[in-house]
Amino acid sequence: MTAETAEVGNTGGGFLREAFHNKRLLGVALIAAIGGFLFGYDTGVIGGAMLFMKKDLGLSTPGMQQLTVAILLLGAVAGALISGYAADKFSRRRTKITSGCVYVTGALAAAFAQSYWEILASRFWLGLAVGTASFVAPMYIAELVPPRIRGGVVSFNQLMITSGILAAYIVDWGFAGFSNNWRWMFGIAMIPGAALAVGMYFMPFSPRWLVEKGREDDARRVLHRYRDSDEDVDREIEEIKEVSASEASVRDLLKKGVRRMLIVGIGLAVFQQIVGINTVIYYAPTILKFAGQHNTGALTQSVFIGCTNVVFTIVAILLLDKLGRRFFLVTGTAILTASLVGLGIFFESAGVRHAVPWLALACLLTYIMGFAVGLGPVFWLMISEIFPIQMRGPAMAVCSMFNWGLNFAISYTFLTLTNTITKQGTFWLYAFFGVCALVFFLTLVPETKDRSLEQIQADLGADADAALTRGGSEARDPEHVHA
Ligand code: BGC
Repeated sequence: MTAETAEVGNTGGGFLREAFHNKRLLGVALIAAIGGFLFGYDTGVIGGAMLFMKKDLGLSTPGMQQLTVAILLLGAVAGALISGYAADKFSRRRTKITSGCVYVTGALAAAFAQSYWEILASRFWLGLAVGTASFVAPMYIAELVPPRIRGGVVSFNQLMITSGILAAYIVDWGFAGFSNNWRWMFGIAMIPGAALAVGMYFMPFSPRWLVEKGREDDARRVLHRYRDSDEDVDREIEEIKEVSASEASVRDLLKKGVRRMLIVGIGLAVFQQIVGINTVIYYAPTILKFAGQHNTGALTQSVFIGCTNVVFTIVAILLLDKLGRRFFLVTGTAILTASLVGLGIFFESAGVRHAVPWLALACLLTYIMGFAVGLGPVFWLMISEIFPIQMRGPAMAVCSMFNWGLNFAISYTFLTLTNTITKQGTFWLYAFFGVCALVFFLTLVPETKDRSLEQIQADLGADADAALTRGGSEARDPEHVHA
C-alpha cells in the first residue's frame, strides 16, 4: 500500500496508538491537542459568559449579543485567510507561535473588556487565532506525522475541539457563583494559549515547508526523527517535490473534472452549519433558560451537552472505519433532525412543556449525539479524503471558508430569528435543512471507507488529472508516479 492510499480511511485510533509508543509523536499530538482544544474553548466559552456579561457590559439587544458571539467567526474567516498565506511565507511553526501569542493577548483583552466595543475587538482578535488553529494546526501536524496515520489527525482534532467546548462549559459552570465570573471564563484561556506558543517554539519546521524553501537537508533531518527508515525519508522527499510542482490553485477548482467533488465538500460544509449546531454550542445555556431553567441549572445542563458531544465523538472515531461514513452521516442527521422537530414541539405547546418539562434537555442531548457521530467528524474527515493531493490544500481552504461563513450567518441570526419566526419556527427551519441534508447525502455523497483515492474519484465521476493539466505537463497523483 502506498502512503497516499494509506491516508484514506484512518480515523484516529492509529494516530493515538503510534503517539503513545513514540515520544516525539506524543509531543506532536500534545501540540495538536492544545490547538484544537483552544479552538473549542474559545468558541464554547461565550455560552455561559453571555448570561453574566450582558448585564455588566450593557449588551441589551439581541443584535448586540449576537454580534458579540458571532464576531469571533468573522475573525476566524480572516484568520484562516491570513494564516494560509503566513504558513507558506513565514512557516507553519512561526504562524502557530504567533497564534499562541494572539490567544494569550485575546484572552486578556476579553477578560479586561470594559465596553461593548472592547469585547467586540477582543473577540475578533481571538477569532484570528481560532481561524489559524482550524487551518494551520491540522496542516502542520499532517505534514510531520508518517503518512499512514495522517488521516487520524483530522479526527483527533475534532475530538480536541469537542473537549475544548466541554472544558469551556465546565469552567462556565465552575465560575457561575463568583463575581466578575465571565472575566475569569475568558481569562483562563491564556494558560493553554501560552502553552501553545512555548510548545511550538520547541517544535521543528514542517518538512514540506523546508523543501519548498529549498532547505532539503534540513527537511531530511526533521524527517529522520519522525520516520522509521531512510527509504521512507527519501520517498517522502520525492513525493513532496512532486506534489509541490503540480499543486493546484483555487482557480483550478472550478474546472470541470473536479466540480462534483467540490459540490460534495461545500455541501457538507454548508449542511454542517445550517442544521444549527452552533446555536446549540454557543447558546445552549440561553436555550435552556428559554425552557425555564435558572442560570446555574442551565450551566449544569450545558455540561451534560458538552459531555455527550465528547463521548459520541469518541464512538464515531472508533466506529467510522467499521460502519462507514455514510451510515453515520445519514443516521446521525436523521436523529438530529427528529430532535429539532421535538424541540419545536416543546416550544410550540404549553401542554407539552407542562407534561414533559425535561423534553428540551432530552432533545438537545439527542441532537448533539446525532451531530457528534455524523456531521461533526465526517465533514472534516471527508474533505481530507475526497480531493486529490494536489488540490487538497486549496479545496479544503474553500470548504472551511464556507463552513466558517455559514457558522457566522447562523449564529448571527439565531436570536433575531427566535424573535421574528418564534423559537419553534427557528428549530423547525433547521429541521427542514436537516431533511435537505439527508437528501443530499443519500443522492450525492459517496462512501469513502476502505476506498483508495482513485476509487473515490471514480465514484465522483471526476477527472482530476485532466483538470489539473498545467503548463503542458500532466499533474499526477504521487501514487501513479511512484507505483
Ligand atoms: C464544527 C464546529 C462545531 C463543533 C461542535 C465542528 O465539527 O465545525 O462548528 O462547533 O464541531 O462539536
